[in-house]
Amino acid sequence: MKKKYIIAIDGPVGSGKSTIARMVAKRLNYIYVDTGAMYRALTLKALQTKTSMDDPQKLVELAQTADIKFKSENNILKVLLDSNDVTTQIRDPHVTRNVVHVANIPELRGIMVERQRTLGKKGGVVVEGRDIATVVFPKAQRKFFLDASFEERLERRYKELISEGKNISKEDLAEDIKIRDISDKQRKVGALKQAKDAIYLDTTGLNIDEVIEKVLSYV
Ligand code: DC
Repeated sequence: MKKKYIIAIDGPVGSGKSTIARMVAKRLNYIYVDTGAMYRALTLKALQTKTSMDDPQKLVELAQTADIKFKSENNILKVLLDSNDVTTQIRDPHVTRNVVHVANIPELRGIMVERQRTLGKKGGVVVEGRDIATVVFPKAQRKFFLDASFEERLERRYKELISEGKNISKEDLAEDIKIRDISDKQRKVGALKQAKDAIYLDTTGLNIDEVIEKVLSYV
């Protein structure tokens, strides 16, 4: 029987990691864990409960009690927050803009990291995020750092949002991505960086199938 690896995939916004992680998990019959969705779900809960984004202690309390679960339906990952399906809501631009406040709190990240470890500890998982290979699973059997040029990342995100019916200008999106890149890289705990032993894949100019084949060739 095939060994059940932990496959860690990190990368910036628009590097293709969510699509690649989901498809690689499908090909290997592994579980896909989208850690960004966990920070997003928590942000949504903070907004719904009108918890101040300037009150780290309250946000930590929220993280302690929030019930965040994943459910796979026809290869679509559903995100459940306190038993409610929030898969679409957590992609709302308002959530995206506020997630930085939640993701920057070290104590809150500690709670999320523990949950992510619980989800992945048995192996047979593809876990995707910013700090997976460096913090969550530093001993993962396979580690990838996906990247692409800024222009291509912008173009991918733009197409994705337009196809979801979101109304956003490319200029505003470019600003949003720049801000998220800076906050991802400068976060005091769990910052986005390539693990020393991670395989760097520049996906600029590659299509999804080409990247999947590259990742699988290392697995
Ligand atoms: O991958 P994403 O865009 O859905 O992630 C949403 C936010 O969560 C992103 O702004 C960075 C943050 N995040 C994080 O801090 N650590 C992770 N492991 C995953 C995401």
